[in-house]
Amino acid sequence: MEQSMFYVPGPSGRSRASSMLRIGPSPGSVKEKYDVREKIGEGCYGQVYIGIRKSDRKQFAIKVTDYGDNSGVPGYAGELPKEVAMMTIVRDSPCPFLIKLQEWFLVKEEKLPDGEMIRTIAMVIEHPGPCRTLAEFLEEHPNLERRDARTLIQQIVKAAQACKRQEICHFDIHDHNILVISPPLHIKLIDFGCGLHIFHDPDNHPRRDTVISPVTAEQITVNQLVTIVEGIARHCSSIPTAFMEYITACRSSLNVEEVVQHTVEEILDQPWLRD
Ligand SMILES: Nc1ncnc2c1ncn2[C@@H]1O[C@H](COP(=O)(O)OP(=O)(O)OP(=O)(O)O)[C@@H](O)[C@H]1O
Ligand SMILES: [Mg+2]
Repeated sequence: MEQSMFYVPGPSGRSRASSMLRIGPSPGSVKEKYDVREKIGEGCYGQVYIGIRKSDRKQFAIKVTDYGDNSGVPGYAGELPKEVAMMTIVRDSPCPFLIKLQEWFLVKEEKLPDGEMIRTIAMVIEHPGPCRTLAEFLEEHPNLERRDARTLIQQIVKAAQACKRQEICHFDIHDHNILVISPPLHIKLIDFGCGLHIFHDPDNHPRRDTVISPVTAEQITVNQLVTIVEGIARHCSSIPTAFMEYITACRSSLNVEEVVQHTVEEILDQPWLRD
């Protein structure tokens, strides 16, 4: 049955809307299904455009990128472009602070003279409506209220925790990869292009180059969160000193002994952030 190649059921006993979403590339071309409009972003590996779905005029972000690395998704036999694989896995998270992949298309496959295959893909990604990156938001808000700083920090740490629960390390959490929708104050973590599988035994993983150990993932994530919190704190002078002292103490040099000193959960459990 063709469907079994593209659709993976959710873990038994749990019915999820996303389980019925396609995992492999959508048939046809992105331009058949979407009006591709203005460019809204550009990075090292891709361009991001506004895309309007022709069937219902719903707005999405369309990220066009060349990919090199492949990676897998539990329960899916085929290989996927790594960013697609990461987004497919986090699509199953109930966390509202992770951007969701809708579908993706293979745009072009080209064999270079040296035999290397270059593939271009277009990912159709949820667009949360009027928003800006955290970097832009902070520039516009030099004096954040303490309540707003807390909301932002709490949501960003919860987004990192949700990735960890899906056994993904985002690996690139910074102020250009976080969208802020305001009002209401709500964040979305984007750009899973650097993501890695958190895997306990990298030596026994089919693709060693796409995995990271749980300890290193925790250290890198905590360090990236520390940088984000320090950036927000530069725009809010009323964050409790005890919290900032704790955050500063969290920054670890990536240590060879592979010992986790601080965790994402521990940050969320600080008295100032606790729900
Ligand atoms: N889903 C989205 N909704 C709205 N804007 C988005 C969305 N995705 C990306 N953008 C905008 O496009 C910019 C670039 O996107 P993204 O970070 O995914 O690509 P990139 O940095 O080029 O990726 P890479 O690091 O893989 O090169 C973002 O900073 C943001 O401004
Ligand atoms: Mg980016």
